Amino acid sequence: MTPATSLFSPVEADLQILADNLKQLVGNRHPILYAAAEHLFGAGGKRIRPAIVLLISRATMQEQEITPRHRRLAEITEMIHTASLVHDDVVDESEIRRGVPTVHSLFGNRIAVLAGDFLFAQSSWYLANLDCLEVVKLLSEVIMDLATGEIQQGLNRFDTNTSLDIYSQKSYYKTASLIANSSKAAGVLSDVSVEVAENLYNYGRHLGLAFQIVDDILDFTSSSDTLGKPAGSDLKSGNLTAPVLFALEEQPYLEVLIEREFAQEGDLDQAMSLIKNSQGIQRSRELATDHAKIAVENIEAIAPSPSRQTLINLANYVLSRLY
Ligand code: IPE
Ligand code: IPE
Ligand code: MG
Ligand code: MG
Repeated sequence: MTPATSLFSPVEADLQILADNLKQLVGNRHPILYAAAEHLFGAGGKRIRPAIVLLISRATMQEQEITPRHRRLAEITEMIHTASLVHDDVVDESEIRRGVPTVHSLFGNRIAVLAGDFLFAQSSWYLANLDCLEVVKLLSEVIMDLATGEIQQGLNRFDTNTSLDIYSQKSYYKTASLIANSSKAAGVLSDVSVEVAENLYNYGRHLGLAFQIVDDILDFTSSSDTLGKPAGSDLKSGNLTAPVLFALEEQPYLEVLIEREFAQEGDLDQAMSLIKNSQGIQRSRELATDHAKIAVENIEAIAPSPSRQTLINLANYVLSRLY
């Protein structure tokens, strides 16, 4: 489940430490919540977010060693991400995540909701203990954004009036906000200038948007086995992502199928083929490529180093998942 591992070579040892720490950080106050949280951490995941935090930490500390606070920030970032996945899978009624059964399908919805809350609460506590008010502000905004994005997505289901702007805003809230704000926070912990902090934020924002667009394309083009989570589920549940929004511009009948929520037999298959026979996927690829380019421009503003190079490569890795 870690296809990007060799890509992360400057921080591979750091990521190993992180993996060990994450399990301990969950604590064992309550055995069931612990088991639920540990279940997903154990399954791994690509660890892209903590890798970015660690790479930015190294890139901005240059000759000096990164601090325990940088490491803790990386752990908090992965904890927040994992909490959001536990809740997202409840909302989406998804059965598989990271190639293993989801928390709610193993432990039930009640435990999954509590386990997600518990992880959010735990991450807030570790966040406060960083003793850096600016970082607390950045990451607590992320937790609000995640909920905002999830609510927005729920409210816009099957709504063919959803614009690309609304979709981008939702993607920022659900995905890019965490990457942007944790990227900036890593710089803040290294005492970078206001300008560099802004570059780091924009790197994370655009990389995050590219990442979500690619995830949304893969939902159409990849298989559940490859993804370790259900494929083809966004459209079915009325989550209108970039490929659909572009396809709607050229396939008017798609609107009819979506508006009646695929009520008639064959509707979903027909919608799928209308999308696949449109420019939707290609145009989404171009949009992701544009965001990845802006991400690279922003990270190029910081001093060159192996870690900076890896952050640049990461933008290409995100796009390469499409081929
Ligand atoms: C999944 O994120 C949620 C999205 C933002 C698309 P990842 O694809 O990074 O999930 P893991 O952590 O590798 O499982
Ligand atoms: C991102 O969106 C999920 C979160 C940030 C919680 P998706 O809904 O596309 O994520 P997947 O596809 O379930 O991983
Ligand atoms: Mg989901
Ligand atoms: Mg998805």
